[in-house]
Amino acid sequence: MVKRGMFITFEGADGCGKTTQLELLAQYLTKKGKEVLTTREPGAKGLGERIRDILLNYDGEVSDRCESFLFLADRAQHIDTIVNPAVATGKIVLCDRHIDSSVAYQGYGRGLDIDQIDRLNMLATNGRRPDLTFVFDIDVETSMKRVGKEKDRMESAGVDFFNRVRNGYLQLAKQEPDRIRVLDATKSIEEIHKDVVKIIEEYCNK
Ligand code: TYD
Repeated sequence: MVKRGMFITFEGADGCGKTTQLELLAQYLTKKGKEVLTTREPGAKGLGERIRDILLNYDGEVSDRCESFLFLADRAQHIDTIVNPAVATGKIVLCDRHIDSSVAYQGYGRGLDIDQIDRLNMLATNGRRPDLTFVFDIDVETSMKRVGKEKDRMESAGVDFFNRVRNGYLQLAKQEPDRIRVLDATKSIEEIHKDVVKIIEEYCNK
């Protein structure tokens, strides 16, 4: 099992259930005696929380490029002040959303240049990439039902947008099959958790 620090990210469209799976994995690893840190983007804490508030609640116009830079600014702060220090002390960092959200949402979803988003991601993270990424794949109809009627600024983007986001994640997984593992998020919580654990165990015993 794991002996060193690790950075694992959880990705997927809104309502895919990734946060529940992140918490279940955190409990599982903690029971195994691992030191775990759970965190999220946007807005883990401090300055990030302010950026998160703008991103999710600002009700005036936000240009697509401005939106991208706000997510990236949050990411740079998050990597420098929270993720890297924790991994360096041997913790397993479980992070709700990270670089692939920018590619899927701002790239595929909003239609910004994907190579450019990639380069900006590299700048924001100083080249650090997750060791492992789970994508919880779900059809848009089911995920929107789970989100419900009360939607934040991002969740209000519409069905076509979320179809593009989903497709974006699947394209990313094809490009980086070693890092990005796609899971069927329509299964039960317990079944998905088992799938996650299997992948983690295999990864750590490689
Ligand atoms: P959040 O409430 O954290 O949603 P979820 O529980 O689905 O993660 O809101 C984060 C929103 O921001 C979500 O709609 C995805 C979006 N997002 C981007 O568009 N780009 C990004 O780079 C990140 C990190 C998130």
